[in-house]
Amino acid sequence: MAKILLLGSGELGKEFIISAQRLGHYIIAVDSYDHAPGMQVAHEKEIINMLDAEALDATIEKHKPDFIVPEIEAIRTERLYEYEKQGYVVVPSAKAANYTMNRKAIRDLAAKELSLKTAPYKYATSSNELKAAVEIIGMPCVVKPLMSSSGKGQSTIKTESDIQKAWDYSQEGSRGDVAEVIVEAFINFDYEITLLTVTQQNGNTLFCPPIGHRQERGDYQESWQPAAMQDIDLQTAKDMAAKVTASLTGNGIWGVEFFVGKDGVYFSELSPRPHDTGMVTLANTQNFNEFELHLRAITGLPIAEITQERIGASAVLLASKNSDMPKFEGLETLAEASKTDFRIFGKPTSRPYRRMGVVVTYDSLDGDINEVTEKAKKLAKGITITG
Ligand SMILES: Nc1ncnc2c1ncn2[C@@H]1O[C@H](COP(=O)(O)OP(=O)(O)OP(=O)(O)O)[C@@H](O)[C@H]1O
Ligand SMILES: [Mg+2]
Repeated sequence: MAKILLLGSGELGKEFIISAQRLGHYIIAVDSYDHAPGMQVAHEKEIINMLDAEALDATIEKHKPDFIVPEIEAIRTERLYEYEKQGYVVVPSAKAANYTMNRKAIRDLAAKELSLKTAPYKYATSSNELKAAVEIIGMPCVVKPLMSSSGKGQSTIKTESDIQKAWDYSQEGSRGDVAEVIVEAFINFDYEITLLTVTQQNGNTLFCPPIGHRQERGDYQESWQPAAMQDIDLQTAKDMAAKVTASLTGNGIWGVEFFVGKDGVYFSELSPRPHDTGMVTLANTQNFNEFELHLRAITGLPIAEITQERIGASAVLLASKNSDMPKFEGLETLAEASKTDFRIFGKPTSRPYRRMGVVVTYDSLDGDINEVTEKAKKLAKGITITG
């Protein structure tokens, strides 16, 4: 059995660890704070700053894991190349983790090297450069720090007077030492999807049925599977996902994000790991959920096929205030609902908009996906997180 070191131990890490525990693996959960969700179900834990190269080196050296599995972006990913050189397996690969933590690396790879269709974009390192970039890209456009996630530091420029604000905001939301931003044309898409893609040792790349989702304040609010889409658009998305994952190399699950509009499918970005919108698979919408798929692909267990067993939806449970003793009200009503389940992540503290749990709903394959999604939303609204 394998020794797995998980870098990041949030709700996605917790579910991944549970999948690994079920198949008898040994897990060390790493995060920057104690009692992180994943630590509650792991064999061992380490509390370190994963952006600190020395701390990261010491943790790897101490545990000598068979697999180093990044669960978050905020890791000193340059070090991962070194671990690979030393013979460690980084999941899916050092390149994948390193490229995807920096929007410039992954965007240039996708658009320039692989010729995938993306929103037109430019980079800027100052508000003056941003102004010049906006002139070329046009308005509306979206500004994002090169290193950030969950929409941090991200804003939309609609008029000239937004430019300075967007620059200032990007600087507050940037992670790490890079001041640069990407500015992208705003894509007026009809809908957006995550295409969970599984790359395997045997070379057989598989795709999950597409997941639709809705974003607010940079985080997803609801997701549903399958997202209705034209075959041709799905095929285009699959081709792009196969290309970009092959180029980044390695085995595991990837959440590849696309915008779909009148003028086709745009590649947006991807996670080389389970995706938050993929929590919908916790409704057992598939023969294996996204965490089980990740584990199997990593450990080299062949996955013959991914089948959709049910339709499903997920809706997030967000905290409304700061608390070090969050409490959930309304769980009885939620529990009473048919074809419904939920997860409470066990985060020790809450703050406004922190994701604390998720509701999942499902129905048979011939059910109505909109109804299932509306039900998840409504049930999630019925929960209050106090403390
Ligand atoms: N060019 C764009 N045009 C229109 N909408 C956009 C554009 N870029 C981003 N968005 C919207 O903002 C959301 C978040 O953007 P993106 O995925 O790039 O940021 P992120 O911070 O990496 O988010 P996360 O880490 O949560 O995936 C997208 O899912 C989409 O809804
Ligand atoms: Mg995203």
